[in-house]
Amino acid sequence: MDDHAFAAPAPAAPTAPALPMAVLAELTHRCPLQCPYCSNPVELEAASRELSTEDWQRVIGELAALGVLQIHFSGGEPLVRRDLVALVAHADRAGLYTNLITSAVMFTRAKVAELAEAGLAHVQVSLQGASAPVAERIGGFRGGHAKKIEAAAWVRAEGMALTLNAVMHRQNLDELPRIVEMAVEMGAQRLEVAHVQYYGWALKNRAALMPTLAQLDEATRIVEEAQARLSGVLAIDYVIPDYYAVRPKTCMGGWGRQFFNISPSGKVLPCHAAETITGLRFDSVREAPLAEIWQRSEALNLYRGTGWMQEPCRSCIHAEEDFGGCRCQAFALAGDAAATDPACAKSPLHAQLFSLAGAEAEAGADRFLYRNFSGGTPEG
Ligand code: FES
Repeated sequence: MDDHAFAAPAPAAPTAPALPMAVLAELTHRCPLQCPYCSNPVELEAASRELSTEDWQRVIGELAALGVLQIHFSGGEPLVRRDLVALVAHADRAGLYTNLITSAVMFTRAKVAELAEAGLAHVQVSLQGASAPVAERIGGFRGGHAKKIEAAAWVRAEGMALTLNAVMHRQNLDELPRIVEMAVEMGAQRLEVAHVQYYGWALKNRAALMPTLAQLDEATRIVEEAQARLSGVLAIDYVIPDYYAVRPKTCMGGWGRQFFNISPSGKVLPCHAAETITGLRFDSVREAPLAEIWQRSEALNLYRGTGWMQEPCRSCIHAEEDFGGCRCQAFALAGDAAATDPACAKSPLHAQLFSLAGAEAEAGADRFLYRNFSGGTPEG
């Protein structure tokens, strides 16, 4: 048994879970960008395994019947799917609030208009930096930065809501003030300033991405100042890096509680990184109705609620607030998905994590292992 062997607790008794609020529909893992912190699984699903248009339309109907309110079309890059407009229209007709999570580099003016016409309500565009040289080096895609700015203007011209998602790390944090300005100039309603989370592919690039503590403190100051100054103009969400946290994040609002993912091939996952936990078995929408999977899925039930918790989580006063933090991070760092998330100060691994972050950040490695279908290419 190696360090990362799966230590499975008995599945929680299948109590009736609350109704899910939102689903992340990962239409494809194909993507023109090669970000070193990609949140897709290490093993990407091939295009030949993707659900068909008819499969997705059936699933969208089941989502609406289940009471899901929002569908976030994601990837990879969802714009590589030729049926994206049809799927958005289907979801809109089913009464779901529709959001497109995209790098925007494949947008055309006509496609933005078609999506608006199909009922798309919201677009979330990723930013890799505030300047083309930085952003395009991180995304591994030349010409992408100007395209994002142009596409964001088309989104706003069509009257759709716009969120910008800026993933921050040691190699782009000095551009944060300009990213905030860009969000205002681009007419975004919301900016997510999210430090990289280190599981899956991002873990391979941790040494090149981890911020120093001084950078983190400065980023927090910049965000807090901007939140106060831009109140009523731009909402700014802020996610700090787990390795410097004191309390763990309430990952996914709690495992199997409000959100779930559907992978390109139809696997129902509690979160985007759940496949990094070896030994879990995921049900597929190809094999069972969604309502049944939501209730009975062994993987969803495994860490639902608080019954699975060990100490110190079990007796913690925050157990019902953060639900023990992130299971994927607990598995990645402690080798046990039921362990206390090492981001929590109560974890025996917390101090070690904090000093590891500082040491990696100070060492200053800067080469990326890029994410792509050929299995990751080191920066030349
Ligand atoms: Fe899987 Fe946090 S990313 S539980």
